[in-house]
Amino acid sequence: MYRTHTCGELNEAHIGQKVQLAGWVQKVRDKGFVVWIDLRDRYGLTQLVFDQDRTPAELLEKAREAGREYVLQVSGEVIERASKNPKIPTGNIEVLVSEFTILNPSLTPPFTIEDTTDGGEELRMKYRYLDIRRSPVKNNLIFRSRVTMEVRNYLAAKGFIEVETPYLIKSTPEGARDFVVPSRMNAGEFYALPQSPQTFKQLLMVGGMDKYFQIVKCFRDEDLRADRQPEFTQIDCEMAFVEQEDILSTFEGLTLHLLEQFHGVHLEEIPRMTYDEALKRYGSDKPDIRFGMEFGELNTVAQNRDFKIFNEAEMVVGLAVPGGNQYSRKEIDALTDWVRRPQVGAKGMVYVRCNEDGSFKSSVDKFYSQEDLSLWAAATGAEKGDLILVLSGDTDGVRTQLSMLRMELAQRLGLRKPGEFAPLWVVDFPLLEKDEETGRYHAMHHPFTAPKPGQMELLDTDPGAVRANAYDLVLNGNEIGGGSIRIHDRTTQEIMFRHLGFSPEEARQQFGFLMDAFQYGAPPHGGIAFGLDRLVAILGGQESIRDFIAFPKNNSGRDVMIDAPAPIDSAQLDELQLQLKK
Ligand code: AMO
Repeated sequence: MYRTHTCGELNEAHIGQKVQLAGWVQKVRDKGFVVWIDLRDRYGLTQLVFDQDRTPAELLEKAREAGREYVLQVSGEVIERASKNPKIPTGNIEVLVSEFTILNPSLTPPFTIEDTTDGGEELRMKYRYLDIRRSPVKNNLIFRSRVTMEVRNYLAAKGFIEVETPYLIKSTPEGARDFVVPSRMNAGEFYALPQSPQTFKQLLMVGGMDKYFQIVKCFRDEDLRADRQPEFTQIDCEMAFVEQEDILSTFEGLTLHLLEQFHGVHLEEIPRMTYDEALKRYGSDKPDIRFGMEFGELNTVAQNRDFKIFNEAEMVVGLAVPGGNQYSRKEIDALTDWVRRPQVGAKGMVYVRCNEDGSFKSSVDKFYSQEDLSLWAAATGAEKGDLILVLSGDTDGVRTQLSMLRMELAQRLGLRKPGEFAPLWVVDFPLLEKDEETGRYHAMHHPFTAPKPGQMELLDTDPGAVRANAYDLVLNGNEIGGGSIRIHDRTTQEIMFRHLGFSPEEARQQFGFLMDAFQYGAPPHGGIAFGLDRLVAILGGQESIRDFIAFPKNNSGRDVMIDAPAPIDSAQLDELQLQLKK
């Protein structure tokens, strides 16, 4: 037996007991006549003590051999500490060691394994197993496990069945590139790793499973950001004989349960907003609604004066920054530079100071009267002491830019509070989205999404206007889930593929299996998938998903610890018939 207790559980109640512990050396303090070692395991820290009076000399000597991160096994007696540490649960006791074994020595770790570390991101990724010993990372992984368990239990209790679907499949079009896997037995052919189990979960509905879920890895070869990894986990769900309302209420239940369970936040319901409204009010289809700063469209009050830039713009839109009139000219100039950065892409920014005496001072005073500006204030909800910031340009572009500015300002003003949770359903997404480069339409969610009833005909005349039974779940400005009601008949699915530019032959070749299945009694069905990594990170009060994943990839999609991806040897390439022809 390695241990009788963990390093996190001993307290005054154990004083006088003989115990055995195992763990890692966090710190050694050698005062000559006495040596203290902090021993750490997953559960906490226990102070070990060796001293001249009570410890045999050779044991005291041996204790001095232990360095940081050595693995020890010790036996000893729990005693009361002379100087107590109220900050940790074991802070009132220490263990007077009588037996001591070094189970495994350690090299000096490349960074300090404490709550705040001196290790940079790349170094910590390379030695991820050491980083996981640190409480912040360890606690995130434990939190993830708790959330995952809770989700599983909740869905199981609601009658959902967990079914595993294959990882070696044919491409599913979810909008990203596939990772592909060559097949040795079928030379020249490739599997694709699933971007999601979308088609399989639909086939499970045809198979009569009725309520399916799976906590499942998905793979997408796309550019990485803080909230994106090439492999990530979904809570993937599908239900048969449902309408949109059934899906929304089922997963509203799950979301509210998690907020209650993990944060004691009790919400009656999740508000809903249409996609169009979200763009109009917040410039984003995933608005953070924890704070205001809603957009005010100013076309009617800012155009048809002498200001050419606004007159020529498709959209003039602004927002009020609370208390922003305090910003110095220099600070406003810095904000203008910020929106002009290529990542944001605005050409310029107009500002209006809302003075305490009710007057306005703007960067366009030449063109606008005080009365004009008071209309701007009314449209943006600006009050005395605020600052109105205005951008102009094409509607989509300018909304995106102002949305970025809104989020940046809210961050700076501390309005994005981690302990506050504001979920939101965004509904009525467009079915199709135009690719500005190719001029072609593609499915905004995926090609299996059903148009709203009665809108099929619009596909021929005004495809961009067709709305879908598709919805996203947004939490604090992050898209944590998305889904739709599906097409469940062959004819509609064929029409959809045609509109997406597939020839009948291509559609049959890629999705014949699904359309065939639809001919054998496919029930009406729909579903949703949550991004588990994002959900956990946001419930954990953070936005970067990396620290909630045990072994994440870096920004170039590399695992720097195992050094992957990596070349494979020539024999393996030959076997797969992948050798490049000389
Ligand atoms: P969607 O593509 O919207 O839908 O994905 C569902 C959710 O998965 C999360 N997500 C990601 N998380 C981390 N890294 C990524 N690269 C990444 N990509 C997506 C997001 C997103 O909301 N099959 C459909 C679901 C359905 O229709 O039922 C699907 O995959 O939180």
